Amino acid sequence: MSRPRVYVTRRLPQPALDIIRPVADVTLWDREDVPPPREVLLREVTQVDGLLTLLTDRIDGEVMDAARRLKVVSNFAVGFDNIDIPVATKHRIVVTNTPEVLTETVADFAFCLMLAAARRLVEADQYTRAGSWKTWEPLLLAGQDVHRATLGLIGLGRIGSAVARRAAGFEMRVMYYDPFRREDLEQNLHIDYRPFPDVLRQADFISVHVPLSEQTRHLIGREQFALMKPTAVFVNTSRGPVVDQQALTEALAARRIFAAGIDVFEREPVPAGDPLLVQENVIVAPHIASASVPTRIRMATLAAENLVTVLQGKRPPNPVNPEVLNG
Ligand code: GLV
Repeated sequence: MSRPRVYVTRRLPQPALDIIRPVADVTLWDREDVPPPREVLLREVTQVDGLLTLLTDRIDGEVMDAARRLKVVSNFAVGFDNIDIPVATKHRIVVTNTPEVLTETVADFAFCLMLAAARRLVEADQYTRAGSWKTWEPLLLAGQDVHRATLGLIGLGRIGSAVARRAAGFEMRVMYYDPFRREDLEQNLHIDYRPFPDVLRQADFISVHVPLSEQTRHLIGREQFALMKPTAVFVNTSRGPVVDQQALTEALAARRIFAAGIDVFEREPVPAGDPLLVQENVIVAPHIASASVPTRIRMATLAAENLVTVLQGKRPPNPVNPEVLNG
């Protein structure tokens, strides 16, 4: 039997390539700064047994129809909204993701955004560097307290739970909304379930931790921002389209909420002229919540392990559509 062939859509940390190369012939889109153009992806997919993709690669019906022998799409991300899962399942293509290994790192970053937005850290940095600091002032760059505030989590999966654990150290009161109530976690984490509008109304900090799906697209829009406190700090490290970005921009501009920390956008990269970027009370980041060096290496090696195990006819650690394996 000939060696399997795989297409890897970005330059990966070496330890990941070291896992793949003994098992398969690798064609690499050898750039870090841009994804392969669509026509390259459509051409390469015709030749391969496996794809290792990033969240910037749209793996839809057109790509999977073009494939002739594709068995696995291993996504280098916990989210897999860039892949059409029902179509993959119909084609009997296994899809895998990289959960667990990034949970704590993303939770760290959600907390980092909460603290930085509440305490106006980026404004303070710019102010100090610009030489604007004349004297100590009673209300200079005054923000909101994080300690003993109420944290509202939208979504209580792995990452939401990890944020709740951190909140305990800040003596925060934590409440959550999730379409699937997690009574099993409520006692352990000392957190309360509340209906969605109640979390929005009562929380001082709101952090979003749901996957993107048709049910969660624009989950937070004008109506939801209208319920929040004027002192609320809003943080999104999940997926951009979960939030109506125009409504967020309006809420920040009108000071309907105090501040936001935003790692994900409806369009990525967010265009330079986007009105959100001119708001003073928002801290923005280029989708880096999981970007610590150890975590990104671990995600890459896990994506590589998922890829090769399927190619070797074994069960991968993280199948998203396990019915393909069972059938
Ligand atoms: C990053 O956003 C991921 O889904 O891993």
